[in-house]
Amino acid sequence: MKKAIVIGATSGIGKSIAEILLQNDYTVGVTGRRVEMLQSLKEKNPDKICFCQMDVQDVSAVESICNNLVDQLGGLDLFIISAGIGDENKCLDFSIENNVIKTNVQGFTCLADWGMQYFKKQGHGYLVNISSIAGLIGNGEAPSYNATKAFQINYLEGLRLNADKSGAEIYVTDVRPGFVDTDMAKGDGLFWVASVEKAAQQILAAMQRKKKIVYVTKRWRMIGFLLKIMPYSLLRKL
Ligand SMILES: NC(=O)c1ccc[n+]([C@@H]2O[C@H](COP(=O)([O-])OP(=O)(O)OC[C@H]3O[C@@H](n4cnc5c(N)ncnc54)[C@H](OP(=O)(O)O)[C@@H]3O)[C@@H](O)[C@H]2O)c1
Repeated sequence: MKKAIVIGATSGIGKSIAEILLQNDYTVGVTGRRVEMLQSLKEKNPDKICFCQMDVQDVSAVESICNNLVDQLGGLDLFIISAGIGDENKCLDFSIENNVIKTNVQGFTCLADWGMQYFKKQGHGYLVNISSIAGLIGNGEAPSYNATKAFQINYLEGLRLNADKSGAEIYVTDVRPGFVDTDMAKGDGLFWVASVEKAAQQILAAMQRKKKIVYVTKRWRMIGFLLKIMPYSLLRKL
């Protein structure tokens, strides 16, 4: 039985990925701040789930919590980071931006580094992060969200290059969702909104093929291409 950790599995995409992994013969370690959600996942799958409460902003605790989960699981094959936040902040309140940065940049980096170091020592492993199509462009209403997702996209490429040079058999997948029906996808003007189940199925399929980058759902790949070549004059009209 393979072993996975899903960071940010109390709701949304992370929870759905944890559930689909359980159906696919994995034992899974899950984290999040809302411990009652973790307990409820455990109650439904007592033999296949272990959990630890984790606030990813508390980077000093990341290593010991991850090591604890690995001990409970008895090893690690797959490390998935799905914890993330985003907030509208047109008035550019730094405390809001800083909160997003602490989760999506500091927390993410600390977790990804822990995972890569673990897999390098082991000689193999698989790291997956949920970034966003938002990381391909700037956003005047939520600047830190798009900027932190751009950081993740770039950092994952760096980790992939780093792994390739290390000689270890490590795969890195950058999952770039468009809109998925979770608490995070709020507001008007949403389109092509996927269910969490469909998103998790497509992420699992991409992992089985060890894809470097995957757009979820698939049709967002075309939007990703258009965003990358879009002139600023069009971007300001979005
Ligand atoms: N939904 C979309 O349309 C969409 C599109 C593109 C990308 N994404 C990305 O997908 C990822 C998952 O989001 P989602 O849509 O599934 O939203 P969600 O349902 O709000 O899930 C977010 C998860 O992140 C965890 N989390 C947030 N802050 C945390 C912290 N400080 N410490 C530990 N865990 C934390 C939450 O757990 P606790 O609250 O229990 O801590 C929760 O499990 C995010 O990175 C998001 O940017 C989502």
